[in-house]
Amino acid sequence: MYGNHRFSNTLVLGLAIVVSAPAQQGRGMMGMMGSMKLPDAITSESNPLTPAKINLGRMLFYDARLSRNHDVSCNSCHNLANYGVDGKPVSSGDKGQLGGRNSPTVYNAAGHFVQFWDGRAPNVEEQAKGPVMNPVEMAMSSEAEVVATLRAIPGYRNAFHEAFPDSAEPVTFNNMARAIGAFERKLVTPSRWDRFMSGDQGAITSDEMAGHHQFMQAGCMSCHNGPYIGGQAFQKLGAKKTWPVATDTGRMGVTGNTADRLVFKVPSLRNVEKTGPYFHTGKVATLDEAVRLMGEYQLDRKLDDQQVTQIVAWLKTLTGEIPADYIRQPALPQ
Ligand code: HEC
Ligand code: HEC
Repeated sequence: MYGNHRFSNTLVLGLAIVVSAPAQQGRGMMGMMGSMKLPDAITSESNPLTPAKINLGRMLFYDARLSRNHDVSCNSCHNLANYGVDGKPVSSGDKGQLGGRNSPTVYNAAGHFVQFWDGRAPNVEEQAKGPVMNPVEMAMSSEAEVVATLRAIPGYRNAFHEAFPDSAEPVTFNNMARAIGAFERKLVTPSRWDRFMSGDQGAITSDEMAGHHQFMQAGCMSCHNGPYIGGQAFQKLGAKKTWPVATDTGRMGVTGNTADRLVFKVPSLRNVEKTGPYFHTGKVATLDEAVRLMGEYQLDRKLDDQQVTQIVAWLKTLTGEIPADYIRQPALPQ
Protein backbone atom coordinates (compact mmCIF):
# COMPACT_ATOMS: atom_id res chain seq x y z
CA MET A 1 0.00 0.00 0.00
CA TYR A 2 2.92 2.32 0.58
CA GLY A 3 4.68 2.34 -2.78
CA ASN A 4 8.34 3.16 -3.33
CA HIS A 5 7.42 6.37 -5.03
CA ARG A 6 5.80 7.72 -1.92
CA PHE A 7 8.69 6.55 0.23
CA SER A 8 11.03 8.62 -1.90
CA ASN A 9 9.00 11.79 -1.74
CA THR A 10 8.62 11.46 1.96
CA LEU A 11 12.29 10.97 2.56
CA VAL A 12 13.52 13.61 0.20
CA LEU A 13 11.22 16.17 1.78
CA GLY A 14 12.66 15.51 5.21
CA LEU A 15 16.23 15.17 4.13
CA ALA A 16 16.14 18.46 2.29
CA ILE A 17 15.99 20.11 5.69
CA VAL A 18 18.97 18.31 7.11
CA VAL A 19 21.46 17.99 4.28
CA SER A 20 22.70 20.79 2.11
CA ALA A 21 21.48 20.26 -1.40
CA PRO A 22 24.74 21.00 -3.28
CA ALA A 23 26.70 18.46 -1.25
CA GLN A 24 24.18 15.84 -2.24
CA GLN A 25 23.97 16.53 -5.96
CA GLY A 26 24.73 13.53 -8.07
CA ARG A 27 24.22 11.10 -5.24
CA GLY A 28 21.33 8.72 -5.09
CA MET A 29 18.73 8.63 -2.38
CA MET A 30 20.55 5.79 -0.64
CA GLY A 31 23.64 7.99 -0.54
CA MET A 32 21.68 10.69 1.24
CA MET A 33 20.19 8.26 3.65
CA GLY A 34 23.59 6.73 4.29
CA SER A 35 24.65 10.03 5.81
CA MET A 36 21.98 9.57 8.46
CA LYS A 37 23.11 6.14 9.55
CA LEU A 38 24.92 5.56 12.81
CA PRO A 39 28.67 5.01 12.54
CA ASP A 40 30.25 1.86 14.08
CA ALA A 41 32.33 3.99 16.41
CA ILE A 42 32.29 7.72 17.12
CA THR A 43 35.96 8.49 16.65
CA SER A 44 37.99 11.38 18.05
CA GLU A 45 41.34 12.67 16.80
CA SER A 46 42.40 13.72 20.26
CA ASN A 47 41.46 10.39 21.85
CA PRO A 48 42.25 7.56 19.41
CA LEU A 49 40.49 4.29 20.25
CA THR A 50 42.68 1.35 21.23
CA PRO A 51 41.54 -1.98 22.72
CA ALA A 52 43.58 -1.41 25.91
CA LYS A 53 42.07 2.04 26.46
CA ILE A 54 38.56 0.77 25.83
CA ASN A 55 39.06 -2.15 28.23
CA LEU A 56 40.24 0.23 30.92
CA GLY A 57 37.31 2.56 30.28
CA ARG A 58 34.87 -0.34 30.58
CA MET A 59 36.29 -1.28 34.02
CA LEU A 60 36.14 2.32 35.24
CA PHE A 61 32.56 2.66 34.01
CA TYR A 62 31.50 -0.25 36.22
CA ASP A 63 33.70 0.56 39.23
CA ALA A 64 31.93 1.89 42.32
CA ARG A 65 35.31 2.55 43.95
CA LEU A 66 35.25 5.81 42.01
CA SER A 67 32.58 6.99 44.46
CA ARG A 68 33.05 8.15 48.04
CA ASN A 69 31.20 5.24 49.66
CA HIS A 70 32.09 2.68 46.99
CA ASP A 71 28.43 2.25 46.13
CA VAL A 72 27.80 4.29 42.96
CA SER A 73 29.32 3.70 39.52
CA CYS A 74 28.55 5.27 36.15
CA ASN A 75 26.49 2.16 35.49
CA SER A 76 24.25 2.86 38.52
CA CYS A 77 22.60 5.73 36.66
CA HIS A 78 23.45 4.67 33.10
CA ASN A 79 22.66 0.96 33.26
CA LEU A 80 24.11 -0.40 30.05
CA ALA A 81 21.88 -3.45 30.09
CA ASN A 82 18.89 -1.09 30.30
CA TYR A 83 19.62 1.20 27.34
CA GLY A 84 22.00 3.33 29.40
CA VAL A 85 19.42 4.79 31.79
CA ASP A 86 18.06 4.13 35.28
CA GLY A 87 14.42 4.64 34.33
CA LYS A 88 13.83 7.10 37.18
CA PRO A 89 12.61 10.70 36.85
CA VAL A 90 15.85 11.90 38.48
CA SER A 91 18.72 9.72 39.69
CA SER A 92 19.92 9.01 43.19
CA GLY A 93 23.64 9.16 43.86
CA ASP A 94 25.79 9.45 46.99
CA LYS A 95 23.71 8.63 50.13
CA GLY A 96 20.63 8.36 47.97
CA GLN A 97 20.57 12.09 47.24
CA LEU A 98 18.48 13.06 44.24
CA GLY A 99 19.89 15.06 41.37
CA GLY A 100 17.97 17.79 39.57
CA ARG A 101 17.75 16.31 36.09
CA ASN A 102 16.84 13.08 34.35
CA SER A 103 19.77 10.82 33.38
CA PRO A 104 20.13 10.73 29.61
CA THR A 105 21.41 7.56 27.98
CA VAL A 106 25.12 7.10 27.34
CA TYR A 107 24.38 5.12 24.17
CA ASN A 108 25.31 7.18 21.12
CA ALA A 109 25.93 10.19 23.37
CA ALA A 110 29.51 10.56 22.10
CA GLY A 111 28.03 11.72 18.80
CA HIS A 112 26.23 14.71 20.29
CA PHE A 113 27.75 18.12 19.58
CA VAL A 114 28.00 18.79 23.34
CA GLN A 115 27.24 16.84 26.52
CA PHE A 116 24.61 17.31 29.26
CA TRP A 117 21.14 18.79 28.87
CA ASP A 118 22.69 22.25 29.04
CA GLY A 119 25.76 21.45 26.94
CA ARG A 120 28.26 22.39 29.62
CA ALA A 121 30.84 19.78 28.54
CA PRO A 122 32.18 19.69 24.97
CA ASN A 123 32.68 15.91 24.66
CA VAL A 124 32.43 12.61 26.51
CA GLU A 125 36.00 12.85 27.79
CA GLU A 126 35.37 16.17 29.53
CA GLN A 127 31.93 14.99 30.61
CA ALA A 128 33.37 11.98 32.45
CA LYS A 129 35.19 14.26 34.90
CA GLY A 130 31.93 15.75 36.16
CA PRO A 131 30.03 12.94 37.93
CA VAL A 132 33.00 11.59 39.89
CA MET A 133 33.21 14.76 41.94
CA ASN A 134 29.58 15.86 41.75
CA PRO A 135 28.44 15.93 45.41
CA VAL A 136 25.08 14.30 44.64
CA GLU A 137 26.54 11.71 42.26
CA MET A 138 29.83 9.97 43.14
CA ALA A 139 30.96 12.63 45.62
CA MET A 140 34.75 12.19 45.57
CA SER A 141 36.41 15.17 47.26
CA SER A 142 39.14 15.97 44.74
CA GLU A 143 40.97 14.80 41.64
CA ALA A 144 43.84 13.87 43.95
CA GLU A 145 41.56 11.54 45.92
CA VAL A 146 40.42 9.81 42.73
CA VAL A 147 43.98 9.40 41.49
CA ALA A 148 45.17 8.11 44.88
CA THR A 149 42.34 5.54 44.89
CA LEU A 150 43.29 4.30 41.43
CA ARG A 151 47.04 4.22 42.13
CA ALA A 152 46.43 2.11 45.22
CA ILE A 153 44.98 -0.67 43.06
CA PRO A 154 47.85 -2.57 41.35
CA GLY A 155 45.57 -3.95 38.63
CA TYR A 156 44.68 -0.38 37.61
CA ARG A 157 48.33 0.66 37.52
CA ASN A 158 48.91 -2.10 34.96
CA ALA A 159 45.77 -1.34 32.98
CA PHE A 160 46.66 2.39 32.76
CA HIS A 161 50.19 1.49 31.60
CA GLU A 162 48.78 -0.68 28.84
CA ALA A 163 46.24 1.97 27.80
CA PHE A 164 48.71 4.89 27.87
CA PRO A 165 52.07 3.25 27.07
CA ASP A 166 53.82 6.55 26.32
CA SER A 167 53.28 8.17 29.72
CA ALA A 168 55.74 7.79 32.56
CA GLU A 169 52.88 8.19 35.06
CA PRO A 170 49.76 7.12 33.26
CA VAL A 171 47.38 7.05 36.24
CA THR A 172 45.97 10.58 36.02
CA PHE A 173 42.50 12.08 36.28
CA ASN A 174 42.71 13.14 32.67
CA ASN A 175 43.60 9.63 31.47
CA MET A 176 40.75 8.18 33.53
CA ALA A 177 38.38 10.45 31.63
CA ARG A 178 39.98 9.61 28.28
CA ALA A 179 39.61 5.88 28.92
CA ILE A 180 35.95 6.23 29.89
CA GLY A 181 35.36 8.41 26.84
CA ALA A 182 37.02 5.84 24.58
CA PHE A 183 34.72 3.13 25.94
CA GLU A 184 31.67 5.34 25.37
CA ARG A 185 32.68 6.04 21.78
CA LYS A 186 31.67 2.53 20.80
CA LEU A 187 28.38 2.50 22.67
CA VAL A 188 26.42 2.74 19.43
CA THR A 189 23.12 1.03 18.76
CA PRO A 190 22.21 0.60 15.10
CA SER A 191 18.53 -0.20 14.66
CA ARG A 192 15.97 -1.26 12.08
CA TRP A 193 15.98 2.34 10.84
CA ASP A 194 19.66 2.00 9.85
CA ARG A 195 18.89 -1.27 8.07
CA PHE A 196 16.14 0.53 6.16
CA MET A 197 18.54 3.31 5.22
CA SER A 198 21.03 0.73 4.01
CA GLY A 199 18.44 -0.30 1.47
CA ASP A 200 16.48 -3.04 3.29
CA GLN A 201 12.97 -1.78 2.56
CA GLY A 202 11.44 -4.68 4.47
CA ALA A 203 13.02 -3.48 7.73
CA ILE A 204 10.20 -0.96 8.28
CA THR A 205 6.43 -1.46 8.08
CA SER A 206 4.14 0.88 6.20
CA ASP A 207 2.70 2.19 9.48
CA GLU A 208 6.15 3.01 10.75
CA MET A 209 6.97 4.72 7.48
CA ALA A 210 3.74 6.72 7.78
CA GLY A 211 5.00 7.79 11.20
CA HIS A 212 8.23 9.03 9.68
CA HIS A 213 6.18 11.01 7.20
CA GLN A 214 4.19 12.55 10.08
CA PHE A 215 7.40 13.34 11.96
CA MET A 216 8.65 15.34 8.99
CA GLN A 217 5.30 16.89 8.07
CA ALA A 218 4.86 18.14 11.61
CA GLY A 219 8.33 19.73 11.54
CA CYS A 220 10.00 17.63 14.26
CA MET A 221 13.01 17.24 11.97
CA SER A 222 13.77 20.92 12.09
CA CYS A 223 15.23 20.20 15.54
CA HIS A 224 15.65 16.41 15.72
CA ASN A 225 17.83 15.56 12.73
CA GLY A 226 21.03 13.85 11.58
CA PRO A 227 22.14 10.32 12.44
CA TYR A 228 21.19 10.73 16.10
CA ILE A 229 17.81 12.36 15.32
CA GLY A 230 18.91 15.18 17.60
CA GLY A 231 21.98 15.94 19.67
CA GLN A 232 23.19 18.61 17.25
CA ALA A 233 21.71 21.91 18.46
CA PHE A 234 20.35 23.91 21.37
CA GLN A 235 16.71 24.92 21.26
CA LYS A 236 14.25 26.57 23.55
CA LEU A 237 11.82 24.30 25.34
CA GLY A 238 8.53 25.99 24.55
CA ALA A 239 9.62 27.41 21.19
CA LYS A 240 6.03 28.25 20.18
CA LYS A 241 4.14 28.24 23.46
CA THR A 242 5.45 28.89 26.97
CA TRP A 243 6.44 25.67 28.72
CA PRO A 244 4.48 25.49 31.99
CA VAL A 245 7.33 24.53 34.34
CA ALA A 246 10.39 26.74 34.26
CA THR A 247 12.36 26.01 37.42
CA ASP A 248 15.45 24.80 35.55
CA THR A 249 16.88 27.66 33.51
CA GLY A 250 18.85 25.30 31.24
CA ARG A 251 21.60 26.79 29.14
CA MET A 252 21.23 30.15 30.89
CA GLY A 253 22.93 28.54 33.87
CA VAL A 254 26.03 28.06 31.70
CA THR A 255 26.11 31.29 29.69
CA GLY A 256 24.42 33.67 32.11
CA ASN A 257 22.55 35.02 29.10
CA THR A 258 18.81 35.53 29.72
CA ALA A 259 18.08 34.66 26.08
CA ASP A 260 19.22 31.12 26.99
CA ARG A 261 16.54 30.66 29.61
CA LEU A 262 14.89 27.22 29.12
CA VAL A 263 17.23 26.46 26.23
CA PHE A 264 18.37 22.83 26.23
CA LYS A 265 20.24 20.50 23.96
CA VAL A 266 17.83 18.85 21.54
CA PRO A 267 18.13 15.24 22.74
CA SER A 268 18.81 12.34 20.43
CA LEU A 269 15.73 10.19 19.83
CA ARG A 270 17.77 6.99 19.37
CA ASN A 271 16.31 4.33 21.75
CA VAL A 272 13.78 6.86 23.01
CA GLU A 273 11.21 4.05 23.41
CA LYS A 274 13.41 2.67 26.20
CA THR A 275 14.76 5.81 27.87
CA GLY A 276 11.74 7.26 29.63
CA PRO A 277 10.58 9.02 31.68
CA TYR A 278 11.04 12.02 29.43
CA PHE A 279 12.46 15.53 29.27
CA HIS A 280 15.14 17.03 31.50
CA THR A 281 12.69 16.84 34.38
CA GLY A 282 11.83 13.17 33.85
CA LYS A 283 8.26 14.15 34.65
CA VAL A 284 6.54 12.83 31.53
CA ALA A 285 6.01 9.09 31.76
CA THR A 286 4.93 8.03 28.28
CA LEU A 287 6.31 8.56 24.83
CA ASP A 288 2.82 9.33 23.48
CA GLU A 289 2.53 12.22 25.90
CA ALA A 290 6.05 13.47 25.13
CA VAL A 291 5.24 13.55 21.40
CA ARG A 292 1.94 15.34 21.98
CA LEU A 293 3.64 17.97 24.14
CA MET A 294 6.34 18.51 21.52
CA GLY A 295 3.67 19.12 18.88
CA GLU A 296 1.91 21.63 21.08
CA TYR A 297 4.84 23.55 22.62
CA GLN A 298 7.53 23.31 19.95
CA LEU A 299 5.40 23.48 16.82
CA ASP A 300 2.02 24.90 17.84
CA ARG A 301 0.34 21.87 16.33
CA LYS A 302 -2.29 19.71 17.89
CA LEU A 303 -1.39 16.18 16.81
CA ASP A 304 -4.37 13.81 16.70
CA ASP A 305 -4.25 10.33 18.21
CA GLN A 306 -3.45 8.65 14.94
CA GLN A 307 -0.57 11.01 14.22
CA VAL A 308 0.85 10.45 17.69
CA THR A 309 0.50 6.67 17.38
CA GLN A 310 2.22 6.65 14.01
CA ILE A 311 5.06 8.91 15.12
CA VAL A 312 5.62 6.70 18.16
CA ALA A 313 5.61 3.62 15.90
CA TRP A 314 8.37 5.21 13.82
CA LEU A 315 10.33 6.28 16.91
CA LYS A 316 10.37 2.63 17.97
CA THR A 317 12.31 1.74 14.82
CA LEU A 318 15.15 3.75 16.42
CA THR A 319 15.43 1.19 19.23
CA GLY A 320 18.76 -0.47 18.58
CA GLU A 321 20.54 -3.58 19.66
CA ILE A 322 22.41 -3.52 22.95
CA PRO A 323 25.99 -4.70 22.23
CA ALA A 324 25.91 -7.53 24.81
CA ASP A 325 29.53 -8.64 24.43
CA TYR A 326 30.91 -5.12 24.39
CA ILE A 327 29.15 -4.10 27.60
CA ARG A 328 29.73 -7.29 29.58
CA GLN A 329 30.95 -6.29 33.05
CA PRO A 330 34.63 -7.24 33.36
CA ALA A 331 36.40 -8.48 36.48
CA LEU A 332 37.47 -5.33 38.28
CA PRO A 333 41.18 -4.88 39.03
CA GLN A 334 42.47 -5.66 42.52
C1 HEC B 1 23.93 9.62 40.28
C2 HEC B 1 23.63 9.37 38.88
C3 HEC B 1 24.73 9.49 37.88
C4 HEC B 1 25.99 8.93 37.91
C5 HEC B 1 26.63 8.12 39.01
C6 HEC B 1 26.60 9.27 36.63
N1 HEC B 1 25.74 9.99 35.86
FE1 HEC B 1 26.04 10.58 33.96
N2 HEC B 1 24.41 11.74 34.07
C7 HEC B 1 23.52 11.78 35.11
C8 HEC B 1 22.59 12.88 34.93
C9 HEC B 1 21.45 13.26 35.85
C10 HEC B 1 22.98 13.52 33.74
C11 HEC B 1 22.36 14.78 33.13
C12 HEC B 1 22.88 15.95 33.96
C13 HEC B 1 22.75 17.29 33.27
O1 HEC B 1 22.47 17.33 32.07
O2 HEC B 1 22.95 18.31 33.93
C14 HEC B 1 24.11 12.76 33.20
C15 HEC B 1 24.73 13.02 31.97
C16 HEC B 1 25.68 12.19 31.42
C17 HEC B 1 26.15 12.25 30.05
C18 HEC B 1 25.66 13.21 28.99
C19 HEC B 1 24.72 12.54 28.02
C20 HEC B 1 23.99 13.53 27.15
O3 HEC B 1 23.11 13.12 26.38
O4 HEC B 1 24.24 14.74 27.25
C21 HEC B 1 27.10 11.28 29.90
C22 HEC B 1 27.88 10.94 28.65
C23 HEC B 1 27.26 10.63 31.19
N3 HEC B 1 26.37 11.20 32.08
C24 HEC B 1 28.20 9.67 31.50
C25 HEC B 1 28.52 9.31 32.82
C26 HEC B 1 29.74 8.64 33.21
C27 HEC B 1 30.86 8.23 32.28
C28 HEC B 1 29.66 8.44 34.56
C29 HEC B 1 30.71 7.85 35.48
C30 HEC B 1 32.01 8.52 35.52
C31 HEC B 1 28.37 8.98 34.98
N4 HEC B 1 27.74 9.53 33.91
C32 HEC B 1 27.89 8.91 36.27
C33 HEC B 1 23.49 10.90 36.18
C34 HEC B 1 24.59 10.17 36.59
C1 HEC C 1 12.05 23.73 18.19
C2 HEC C 1 12.81 22.51 18.38
C3 HEC C 1 12.06 21.20 18.57
C4 HEC C 1 11.06 20.68 17.81
C5 HEC C 1 10.40 21.29 16.59
C6 HEC C 1 10.74 19.39 18.36
N1 HEC C 1 11.52 19.14 19.46
FE1 HEC C 1 11.50 17.45 20.57
N2 HEC C 1 12.78 18.31 21.87
C7 HEC C 1 13.37 19.55 21.73
C8 HEC C 1 14.10 19.88 22.94
C9 HEC C 1 14.91 21.15 23.19
C10 HEC C 1 13.91 18.80 23.83
C11 HEC C 1 14.47 18.69 25.24
C12 HEC C 1 13.51 19.36 26.16
C13 HEC C 1 13.91 19.22 27.61
O1 HEC C 1 13.62 18.23 28.23
O2 HEC C 1 14.52 20.14 28.12
C14 HEC C 1 13.08 17.83 23.11
C15 HEC C 1 12.70 16.61 23.65
C16 HEC C 1 11.97 15.64 22.96
C17 HEC C 1 11.63 14.34 23.47
C18 HEC C 1 12.02 13.79 24.84
C19 HEC C 1 13.32 13.02 24.70
C20 HEC C 1 13.89 12.57 26.01
O3 HEC C 1 14.86 11.80 25.95
O4 HEC C 1 13.44 12.95 27.08
C21 HEC C 1 10.90 13.70 22.50
C22 HEC C 1 10.32 12.29 22.58
C23 HEC C 1 10.77 14.60 21.39
N3 HEC C 1 11.44 15.77 21.71
C24 HEC C 1 10.08 14.33 20.22
C25 HEC C 1 9.71 15.32 19.32
C26 HEC C 1 8.72 15.14 18.29
C27 HEC C 1 7.98 13.84 18.00
C28 HEC C 1 8.59 16.34 17.65
C29 HEC C 1 7.61 16.71 16.59
C30 HEC C 1 6.19 16.56 16.95
C31 HEC C 1 9.54 17.25 18.27
N4 HEC C 1 10.18 16.59 19.29
C32 HEC C 1 9.74 18.56 17.86
C33 HEC C 1 13.28 20.38 20.63
C34 HEC C 1 12.34 20.22 19.62
